Amino acid sequence: MATLYPEIDDRWNQKIDRARCVVSVRDSGVLVAAGVVHDAVLAPTSAMGALELGCMAVRPEYRCQGIRQQVTDLRLEYVVQAGCIPITVIDSANPSSWAAYERSERWERERTFESDGRTKYIYRATALASDWLSPPPQRDIASSTLAGHSVRPLPSSWHSPQVHTTR
Ligand SMILES: CC(C)(COP(=O)(O)OP(=O)(O)OC[C@H]1O[C@@H](n2cnc3c(N)ncnc32)[C@H](O)[C@@H]1OP(=O)(O)O)[C@@H](O)C(=O)NCCC(=O)NCCS
Repeated sequence: MATLYPEIDDRWNQKIDRARCVVSVRDSGVLVAAGVVHDAVLAPTSAMGALELGCMAVRPEYRCQGIRQQVTDLRLEYVVQAGCIPITVIDSANPSSWAAYERSERWERERTFESDGRTKYIYRATALASDWLSPPPQRDIASSTLAGHSVRPLPSSWHSPQVHTTR
């Protein structure tokens, strides 16, 4: 999994060690994307019992196909169903990551804070995230598989797309 990430540091290891759920995406057996849910929350969120979506990465050649969106939705679903508050923390210098949260009605920016000289945003799920999951999602499973979940299809250009959630 480490091969997906440009930088492996203590914080990355901490998130992996404290992972509650790992969503991985494979194309013909090759790991092309992953994201985790962890409970190593360091950000100054006001959310009690928050679980954080982190370690999101998609191999460059697989970007802009909607993979991040699916991996994020699955992690959001996991946290809401666990009865916890979903948050995510994004560096302000990474608009390709936070722009999607700004646009989504299922997320709102809770606060901005400084850490190690960098400005970071905390996004927190809105009530619409719970509404989205209730009643249970009626999502197409035509071209994707996911342990214990339904999921929208991944791009049809893929040979054997597989999305897995490991808890
Ligand atoms: C940030 C990152 C995870 C995004 O992954 P991704 O799978 O490319 O994300 P998506 O495909 O869901 O969305 C990316 C863009 O493609 C667009 N898109 C989605 N499906 C598309 C499709 N079928 N055709 C064209 N564009 C599409 C989205 O609208 C989005 O546009 P935006 O940049 O204007 O927001 C990826 O670039 C990455 O791994 N970056 C390096 C690590 C990183 O920054 N991780 C996040 C740390 S918080």
